[in-house]
Amino acid sequence: MSAHEPAADPHRILKTFSALGTLTAIYPPGHPLITEKLREADETIRHHLKDDDALRIDIIRGVVHLNGVPSEGRGDGHDGLPIDSLHIRRGVSVDEIATLAAFLGRGKLALDSPVAAQLTSRGVEHISVARLVPLDTRWRAHQWPERPTEVLDPDYEESLALAQQAFEQLSSDRLLDIRTVRDLVQLLMCRVATSNAALAQILAVKQYENLTYCHSVNVAVLSLLLGKQLALDEETLAILVEAAVLHDVGKTRIPLELVKKPGALDKRERKLMEAHPVLGAELLAEIDGLRPLTALVALEHHRSVVGGGYPDLGDGVVPHALSQIVSVADIYEAVTGARSYQSPTPPERACLLLARLAGSKLNAALVKAFVNAITFFPIGSIVRTNRGELAVVIRTNADDPLHPVVELVDEDIRGALGAVDTRARDADGGYQRHVIETVAAPGEAVDIRRFLPAARIS
Ligand SMILES: [Fe+2]
Ligand SMILES: [Fe+2]
Repeated sequence: MSAHEPAADPHRILKTFSALGTLTAIYPPGHPLITEKLREADETIRHHLKDDDALRIDIIRGVVHLNGVPSEGRGDGHDGLPIDSLHIRRGVSVDEIATLAAFLGRGKLALDSPVAAQLTSRGVEHISVARLVPLDTRWRAHQWPERPTEVLDPDYEESLALAQQAFEQLSSDRLLDIRTVRDLVQLLMCRVATSNAALAQILAVKQYENLTYCHSVNVAVLSLLLGKQLALDEETLAILVEAAVLHDVGKTRIPLELVKKPGALDKRERKLMEAHPVLGAELLAEIDGLRPLTALVALEHHRSVVGGGYPDLGDGVVPHALSQIVSVADIYEAVTGARSYQSPTPPERACLLLARLAGSKLNAALVKAFVNAITFFPIGSIVRTNRGELAVVIRTNADDPLHPVVELVDEDIRGALGAVDTRARDADGGYQRHVIETVAAPGEAVDIRRFLPAARIS
């Protein structure tokens, strides 16, 4: 926009759309009052789009933002509009504006199916609208009282902070800072995925409510673990990690109460939840600088290996290999995380669940590779042996994943009582010990780090 021209007034544009909606609800199409308002809206929009590719208005916590810049005055007066995000791109026609107005006026903007699809089916291609859903992290203080009091690994902690920052920005102004995503991918690939302590925390059961940004970082690390097990090259791994970090961004467009709703969802709620892959893919496809597969993985991560699942992309359409990898990591991560209505599944049971899904929902070869990569008792997990001893897994045995090397600990998990290799046999050739179960960490924070070897794994 040139310095000599006044900037567009987002309040006026919203008011015009609000009035247009009301008029189209009252008068028949073509009524002079509608035509006049349409002309006014078209003129204002055209004026703005002369120098800018897009006109983006977002009402974020009551403040109207124009192209990401907060404006004076609050947006509360535009309650008549069932949206709080209105983006118009260059090339928009009066017909498109009229269609949107009719849509808004009749309150027909059903937010439980992808809005873009509803508009596209009516020939609107240069306007997108949305109901902004505040990001879950804003509720953290009162929605997540049992979050971990300490994060074991500083690099993991930093990666969680970066992910939180990226998701928050995406949620508030629909912008994704590509540099933050790249830094996060680098950090996960170079440091987090080689840290015993971080892997231990990601693989073990998580006793806290697992928010989307946390889940995303964990899924990215688990996907990377599986990708490495498959000997993918570095470039492919980088693509995989970026896609895994962003696979669930569509959830930031769904009300948090629903994302966290305990128990079964009714039909309408399930439909809305199941829109997150499409919402995410739409969102990612609009962001410059991301790799093309990132939006595809977001779209396909709930599709099954035999071509079912959601969204419906046509019979027998098999997901991309990277989507299949993310699906395995996603399910493992989801079930080992706590939910408000169910306790987390221990790692070995989560692996059995994956095994049950292999061949129908998940790619069987990938499940096998994943289980081999993580082992049944991940490093850092607290386990009970058949002799009643409590122990922390400190090393896994590739040739015998069910029999790791453990550090025996006292019942408070404070004192180390000595390391034993559970592969050890007695005189009859039987195992001296078996690990029989994974034990949930006690309520208060226990520093597992001191039992783990300091060296990073390669
Ligand atoms: Fe998902
Ligand atoms: Fe997910």
